[in-house]
Amino acid sequence: MERTLTILKPDCVRKNLIGAVSEKIEKAGFKIVAMKMMHLTKETAGEFYAVHKERPFYGELVDFMSSGACVPMILEKDNAVEDFRKLIGATDPKKADEGTIRRLYADSVGENIIHGSDSVENAKIEAAFFFSTAEVVANRR
Ligand code: RTP
Ligand code: MG
Repeated sequence: MERTLTILKPDCVRKNLIGAVSEKIEKAGFKIVAMKMMHLTKETAGEFYAVHKERPFYGELVDFMSSGACVPMILEKDNAVEDFRKLIGATDPKKADEGTIRRLYADSVGENIIHGSDSVENAKIEAAFFFSTAEVVANRR
């Protein structure tokens, strides 16, 4: 079974959409195997998105991701990484397909509700960034 890492971003939490978005995720066949709510510091948000450090939007991205609580989760499903990227839709919600989470709930490229790992390799790195092995193993069912 493949795993991916998602984050319900601060705009998702502010808009009271944790329930609605989690329901879409579960209805699409993903098992939530770990989840928690946390307020990232600028330093932690910057480290998570370090790959974008040289991009013009990096400062805004770090400010936004540290602007309020977020909800990281580890999700399990066959083909989880690719299927989850399809479920959330394109980075820019205006370009995202009808019915995707970003199209339904997001306002802008900068505030796009949700993160999804872009490869199996990065999913492993990102899951370990937020969760200890003990937290994940304890949730086996
Ligand atoms: P994410 O990592 O959050 O799942 O988003 P993504 O793969 O769809 O997009 P990525 O290229 O990894 O960009 C990370 C986040 O940076 C913000 N961004 N802003 N203003 C812009 O042109 C721009 N481009 C990217 C978005 O919030 C995006 O989710
Ligand atoms: Mg990305």
